Amino acid sequence: MGPRLRTSRAPFDRQEPLIKLLARRAGEIIDRDRGQQPGRDAEEVPLANVSLMTIATHILGRTGADVTILGYGAMELRGQPWGPAIADEDAGQLLNEVLDEGINLIDTSIDYGHSEELIGQYLVNRRDEYFLASKCGCLIGDPPAGATPPFPHDYSENNVRVGLEQSLRRLKTDHLDLLQVHISPSRAQMEADETIETLEALRDEGKIRFLGMSGTLPHLPDHIAMDVFDVFQIPYSAIQREHEDLITEALAAGAGTLIRGGVARGAPAEDKGWRQGPLGLAEGEGQRRWELSGVEHLLGEMSRHEFVLRFTLSHPALSSTIVGTSDIDHLRSNVAIAEKGPLPADLYREAKRRLEVASS
Ligand SMILES: NC(=O)c1ccc[n+]([C@@H]2O[C@H](COP(=O)([O-])OP(=O)(O)OC[C@H]3O[C@@H](n4cnc5c(N)ncnc54)[C@H](OP(=O)(O)O)[C@@H]3O)[C@@H](O)[C@H]2O)c1
Repeated sequence: MGPRLRTSRAPFDRQEPLIKLLARRAGEIIDRDRGQQPGRDAEEVPLANVSLMTIATHILGRTGADVTILGYGAMELRGQPWGPAIADEDAGQLLNEVLDEGINLIDTSIDYGHSEELIGQYLVNRRDEYFLASKCGCLIGDPPAGATPPFPHDYSENNVRVGLEQSLRRLKTDHLDLLQVHISPSRAQMEADETIETLEALRDEGKIRFLGMSGTLPHLPDHIAMDVFDVFQIPYSAIQREHEDLITEALAAGAGTLIRGGVARGAPAEDKGWRQGPLGLAEGEGQRRWELSGVEHLLGEMSRHEFVLRFTLSHPALSSTIVGTSDIDHLRSNVAIAEKGPLPADLYREAKRRLEVASS
């Protein structure tokens, strides 16, 4: 299932004519209500500055949704103390820019603090433009003071239902496109809690469209074998390849694949300089793998950040990678990188070989 170039930046279920796109981006027409976002009046953008590049899309497994290979992960909007400081208005501008740039997939969670409310507040009038994914099993209300993620989870019917109702209220919508079981519980845990039965009932009630699993080793192979999940959310990047083959298996089983950690938490980017690393790896391990591989010598003019994102996009079984950012310039640069698509085949092959050695 390879990438398919679109002729416009379209919502996941309908195409926007190119001429309308140009007019909209040039500030000649603003044909929809922009909700509560301040300062969003039509701006004069010279046509010469309008980029005709688009982000490729893939079909998200058996959901059939046509999603951009770059999605948006909204965890960075959770607010302090767990996330960066960001004013509500800035978050609103960022979220609208996500859609204006053509991204049509947003991932959030009850566990991401203020994130769901911001999406509800600032994208309420654009709900049909994107595929909306959230999570279940998280406890409602704020985590205890001083607690650090991952927070405790409860996959019982009551908690899943009250969590979903809270998400729908916060997100100002009557349905989620995807509800993902958070934190990769065992099959035995979900059977004891009758979690799948609950999710199927919620789907029958029209409150969610598809079932997902945020899965990791050791339980992910079992999750795929259960054959009930339409989408898997899986961590992966050039320096975190533990789930590489399982991504392929998930797609082969008919599911969509959402890659998280697809830019290795920005660790290799110049502004981060390895001060943080991918979730799930010991401190310093990502940098150790990178340096040991010598992959940097292959990059030429390409930045480390561009290489890492395009490496993720090169995974043949990727549906989309939900990259997180709280910075509008980073968002735009990620879009520009995603528009370039996967790495050249020879670079990808050699980089994989070198990174393989460093990861073993
Ligand atoms: N299911 C789960 O258990 C789970 C766990 C974690 C995450 N997630 C989901 O996956 C999404 C992404 O996960 P993630 O945050 O772990 O990984 P990620 O997308 O690889 O990394 C996000 C980090 O990269 C930085 N970044 C992004 N673009 C950048 C750029 N152009 N230049 C420099 N830095 C850049 C961001 O910092 P800036 O703000 O400075 O740009 C942010 O700190 C989350 O938002 C969330 O939706 C799910």
